[in-house]
Amino acid sequence: MTSKSPTPVILDVDTGVDDALAIALACRLAELEVIGVTTVAGNVDQQRATENTRRVLHLLDAGDVPVAPGMTGPLIRPHRDALAYHGPNGLGGLELPPSPGRMVGAHAPEFIIQAAQEHEGELVLICLAPLSNLAVALLLEPELPRLLKRVVIMGGAFTVAGNITPWAEFNIFVDPEAAAIVARSQLPLTFIGLDVTTRVRFTREQWERCRGLDHPEARLITGVSVWAFEHRQVDAYALHDPLAVAVAAVPDLVGVEPAEVVIDTGLWSTAGQTKMVRSGGQASEHLVALEVDVERFVALFAGALRLPIV
Ligand code: BDR
Ligand code: CA
Repeated sequence: MTSKSPTPVILDVDTGVDDALAIALACRLAELEVIGVTTVAGNVDQQRATENTRRVLHLLDAGDVPVAPGMTGPLIRPHRDALAYHGPNGLGGLELPPSPGRMVGAHAPEFIIQAAQEHEGELVLICLAPLSNLAVALLLEPELPRLLKRVVIMGGAFTVAGNITPWAEFNIFVDPEAAAIVARSQLPLTFIGLDVTTRVRFTREQWERCRGLDHPEARLITGVSVWAFEHRQVDAYALHDPLAVAVAAVPDLVGVEPAEVVIDTGLWSTAGQTKMVRSGGQASEHLVALEVDVERFVALFAGALRLPIV
């Protein structure tokens, strides 16, 4: 019997509570092989994102996955973080020991380009943060659309309201100029926006069931959720970034529509808004997820992370 070899992926992150869970999911799914993680300013500053990423990988016994730090802010605008949502250390208050793991000398955009050249036509890039690194990579290497197999982006709010403003989703809002460069390119993009990510939620009741379990994945999810359930006092939060990882592994978890994607880069309150234009087979057409099989996602997430939440 021959089993399909895993898809090489790079995660581009701003770790972040749900980024941490997405990293764990990517490391545990047999369909994916994480060949590197790149970091960027987003939920937290780039240094903190890098440190959090390395510590999460170490917890998962994946400290040998190379981490490449990237852009320290958006292309043009001042950086805006999301510490109020992710907690003061970005990991919901979870304190993890430092990692002795590998750091890469290359800047994130260069790391992405090199990996895309080495794995021509095979590499899937999973963007879980503002798109500053990918925009710079595109400007440095215009051949990137030919080199990458697919780019899965957690970003956008196409048919629903935003989460940082009434119009915009956080990742696109932070660096709309980068998002516009990416969206206008010929990259094969799949947008996993709030339209689908807000339907996959980790609840207080599921959290209670995971507490007390003694394995790294359970310690991670119970620890990073403390800020949401004890400080913010919400009853559930969305697993935005893990859904994008899951789609990279199992594309038909979501129902997609082909469309041209337009980003609002204006200076007014609608900045960062994402619109889909159903263009009918244009070259710059991307895929926008509008439906998701929630039960199948939860089963996949719970199975990969060994969580008793189904
Ligand atoms: C996105 O914004 C960040 O806060 C999350 O990590 C996710 O990538 C959701 O809008
Ligand atoms: Ca993120």
